[in-house]
Amino acid sequence: AEIERMEMRKAMDLAAKLYHHVLMKTRYGAEARNYLVKRGVSPEAMEEFQLGYAPASFDFLLSFLKGRDFNEALLEKAGLLSLREDKGMKKYFDRFRDRIMFPIMDSQGRVIAFGGRLLGEGRPKYMNSPETPIFSKGNYLFNLHRARSHIRKEQQAILFEGYMDVISAWQAGFPGCVATLGTSLTDDQARILKRNTETVILCYDSDQAGQNAAARGMELLRKQECTVKIAQMPHGMDPDDYILRFGGTAFKEEVLSAALTLTAFKLENLKRHHNLHDEDDRMKYLAEAIGTIAELPLVVEQDHYLRRLAEEFGLSLDALKEDLRRAKKRKK
Ligand code: CTP
Ligand code: MN
Ligand code: MN
Ligand code: MN
Ligand code: MN
Repeated sequence: AEIERMEMRKAMDLAAKLYHHVLMKTRYGAEARNYLVKRGVSPEAMEEFQLGYAPASFDFLLSFLKGRDFNEALLEKAGLLSLREDKGMKKYFDRFRDRIMFPIMDSQGRVIAFGGRLLGEGRPKYMNSPETPIFSKGNYLFNLHRARSHIRKEQQAILFEGYMDVISAWQAGFPGCVATLGTSLTDDQARILKRNTETVILCYDSDQAGQNAAARGMELLRKQECTVKIAQMPHGMDPDDYILRFGGTAFKEEVLSAALTLTAFKLENLKRHHNLHDEDDRMKYLAEAIGTIAELPLVVEQDHYLRRLAEEFGLSLDALKEDLRRAKKRKK
């Protein structure tokens, strides 16, 4: 089985090189290259991320790898080919066709899977490698092997939803960025992050799906005892859109620097559900806010947010402390 995995890695490596060559050097890749350029992806980024293009053919990769004596069944198991059985006849064909290819690498930079994007609209927009003997999508993060040294040095990782977010951020001068692989964050991914950094800034799309995924991700990271911050994009944008439109400096100053701690994020959300101009509703907000603060593990943290509430609403800190004490008692 180890021999099989070695063969698969070899095939993935060759496929990545072939797709990359097609994108960079051939007329078959011209349209894909134009598409990427139009989206603001530089040739340097295409090189750095070894982006590729899988031509619109059912047997392009198949015949290339067969010519190098790879076994079709193995290539199918590696997720490079698909299989159709027709009247008992096995027919193999290229899994990725007419897609921009994003190689996914392990911590040593070896290609273990691909994400493939259509050049335009259509479904599915992304097609990823299936689970294989060398790839399990919950165990890897896109771009980790490039980002890791930066993440360790800064003790901060930026976590995105998408490949394009990582690439845009890299171009704008943010090398410490990774993304999940088409699923919400898993326990394993949270553990990997924790091994490399204290702080994780979640920077998810501003649509509902992204916000829900961020909420789940926050809890997982907190379980790993990471410091989690949540960066928010203006409505309807994702980080890639934002960086293209407003640039890296704005991304740093308006988005990353304004990232909220988990508690601040919760308090913001609570606030949105109450009308603070209404006295009754304001009191309800304060009660719920104190309940949220009561869940914090450290007294210094509790103190910090209580002081902020006291300041914001012109309340006595002593009164808030007394309410906090009662809230904690109720929770026991
Ligand atoms: N994804 C996926 N399958 C889909 C849609 C999305 O695996 N059908 C994954 C991809 O890894 C993608 C990420 O989820 O990068 C985020 O999805 P989305 O926000 O829809 O895509 P973007 O990364 O913003 O891609 P683009 O900007 O090219 O539209
Ligand atoms: Mn190249
Ligand atoms: Mn999205
Ligand atoms: Mn997106
Ligand atoms: Mn996008």
